[in-house]
Amino acid sequence: MIRYLTAGESHGEALVGILEGVPAGLEISAKYIDHQLRRRQQGYGRGGRMRIESDAVEILSGIRFGKTLGSPIALVIRNRDSHNWKSKMTVEEGPQKVERVTIPRPGHADFAGFIKYGFDDIRNVIERASARETAMRVACCTVVRKFLEEFGVFIGSHVFQIGSVHAKDRRRLDRIVAKNLRASCGAYKVTESADRSDVRMLEKESTRRAIQEIKRSKKSGDTLGGMFEVIISGVPVGLGSYVQYDRKLDGLLAQALMSIQAVKGVEIGSGFENAALPGSNVHDEFAVRNKIIARTSNRAGGLEGGVTNGQPIILHAAMKPISTLANPLRSVDMRTRKIVKARYERSDVCAVPACSVIGEAVIGPVIANAFLEKFGGDSIKEVRSQYRH
Ligand SMILES: Cc1cc2nc3c(=O)[nH]c(=O)nc-3n(C[C@H](O)[C@H](O)[C@H](O)COP(=O)(O)O)c2cc1C
Repeated sequence: MIRYLTAGESHGEALVGILEGVPAGLEISAKYIDHQLRRRQQGYGRGGRMRIESDAVEILSGIRFGKTLGSPIALVIRNRDSHNWKSKMTVEEGPQKVERVTIPRPGHADFAGFIKYGFDDIRNVIERASARETAMRVACCTVVRKFLEEFGVFIGSHVFQIGSVHAKDRRRLDRIVAKNLRASCGAYKVTESADRSDVRMLEKESTRRAIQEIKRSKKSGDTLGGMFEVIISGVPVGLGSYVQYDRKLDGLLAQALMSIQAVKGVEIGSGFENAALPGSNVHDEFAVRNKIIARTSNRAGGLEGGVTNGQPIILHAAMKPISTLANPLRSVDMRTRKIVKARYERSDVCAVPACSVIGEAVIGPVIANAFLEKFGGDSIKEVRSQYRH
């Protein structure tokens, strides 16, 4: 089983991760991980912090001479901004005069976390609930992604909606995706194409309109959300299982995506649209092409009964608008119980492009665990021989 844990506060010294269960003999480098960390920091609409920080991972254990050892992999990402926060974030007993945050921001964990842990300072919540934590998730999951790529399983994503801007012709967008999927690196080609756009959209016109919408939103002190698609290509038939609820791959993938900060909806294939259609327009019919069993469509998103059916896995996620508004909403001061404006702290206007990169990352361990359950081994060599069997 691959599993990982992260630790670290947003403005603390560093983010820390421990990843376990990756078979021995996988080639991996800090440079490879850093590429994905950089991608997570991109996107039009991000706030000031992304300009201050350029994330880089340090590998402390589990890798020797460029290859995994099968032992736990320990990773660190330093928060380069932390020197500005030394007095507010010190581990030792702090100065008495540190300003306490007592006004929760609507849409954040601020209020619930403050009550739950009995704090007198909302900063204790802000620091860990922040999406800064996803930098370490991306680092850990990138090692897993490399494992999947060894077996021809590629992950990609693109943004298809920002605020009210979406592709005018969804079928045209699907054709662009399908063309990209024919490349040797499958879904990763979708990602490469999307990365050429500042908002990770595949169509130039949508990119232009989305940037305009983000600019308008910023000007009015508001924020935006949106939707993205994650695709996994090269997945063999039979990963996951229908025999028990907690082995259904669709459920596990939905959990992974839903665990990302601000993701509030997940769809498998064209799930929501399907609900309004007759079955005859929904289910993917079988065909035989050159003696190979094929399907005429992929509305199921590559999963039937919680099991992969050999088609690319298609997942959609909806991200809500960023909760911290430059033109703040009403809140309450927890000390005085007076209605006041929420606090504004340096913030993104739109982070859907970054969220799509995180989406690519977090589904890696889910797929890899299902893959290892079926073709498992302690080393890459052993998994390869099981997979070829
Ligand atoms: C990549 C990314 C960047 C984010 N940036 C911000 C931000 O700058 N300001 C903010 O208020 N929320 C931001 N969020 C969203 C919050 O982290 C999230 O809404 C909050 O932690 C509450 O969690 P919930 O929305 O899952 O309930 C970001 C989320 C992601 C995925």
